[in-house]
Amino acid sequence: MNKKIKNIILKKNKSKIVSLTAYSKNIAKILDRYVDIILVGDSMANVLYGHKNTHKISLDNIIQHTISVKMGVKKSLLVVDMPKGSYINTRAAFKNAKLVIKKTKCDAIKLENNKNNYKIIKYLVKKKIPVMGHIGYTPQFKNKFKIEGQSKQQAIKLLHEAKAIEEAGAFSIVLECLSPYSAKLITESIKIPTIGIGSGINCDGQILVTDDMLGISGFYPRFVKKYANLQKIIKTAIKKFKKDVRNEKFPSNSNTF
Ligand code: KIV
Repeated sequence: MNKKIKNIILKKNKSKIVSLTAYSKNIAKILDRYVDIILVGDSMANVLYGHKNTHKISLDNIIQHTISVKMGVKKSLLVVDMPKGSYINTRAAFKNAKLVIKKTKCDAIKLENNKNNYKIIKYLVKKKIPVMGHIGYTPQFKNKFKIEGQSKQQAIKLLHEAKAIEEAGAFSIVLECLSPYSAKLITESIKIPTIGIGSGINCDGQILVTDDMLGISGFYPRFVKKYANLQKIIKTAIKKFKKDVRNEKFPSNSNTF
């Protein structure tokens, strides 16, 4: 097993796993020093390409952004989202995951669960492709946002889903927008680490979309904590540049050859 993956698994019950998304080298390089996992998420569809959902991002988009991200990553585990339609059956999943790994040298891929891909996960793992699962709100398969696992019955259903993913051989699972009760139940019932987003404190780790937590994307649902307001910082810098250009203060002698 890849040493980085082993280290992530060993963090369960010891140290919370810190994860963020990246779509380019410069951001990845900053994150790499501080986080355990960098995810090239298909959230790039909304964040970078302005799509309404994640459905139209292509395998090629994902590969190109991961090639850039990889240049900034030395120590973190690099996980790549397989886009919608790229794992419709075992054959397609293997062909596409193999291509992603070959072209990007990433460590693992992530598949959103549609309740039918346990067989796919099992096959990929058998072929030595490390897989991260993803349950709860899975934007590739659900159009309407909803918190899941609020009733005991729903929580048990999600637990079965998580257990099936674990049994299929995934090394970790993202729990997106689950009730805290459901996330806790799953986290305490499976051996592989859970990475929460909008699922409360009782997960083995947390992930956020970097552009959201830095205040660039303009998307701040309740589960996002805004750790910086980069929109404001960028606007201030650009206004200063504009003023300097208009007033012929830029370039000064020190910026001129
Ligand atoms: O695409 C993404 O960024 C994700 C995270 C929100 C987990 O899947």
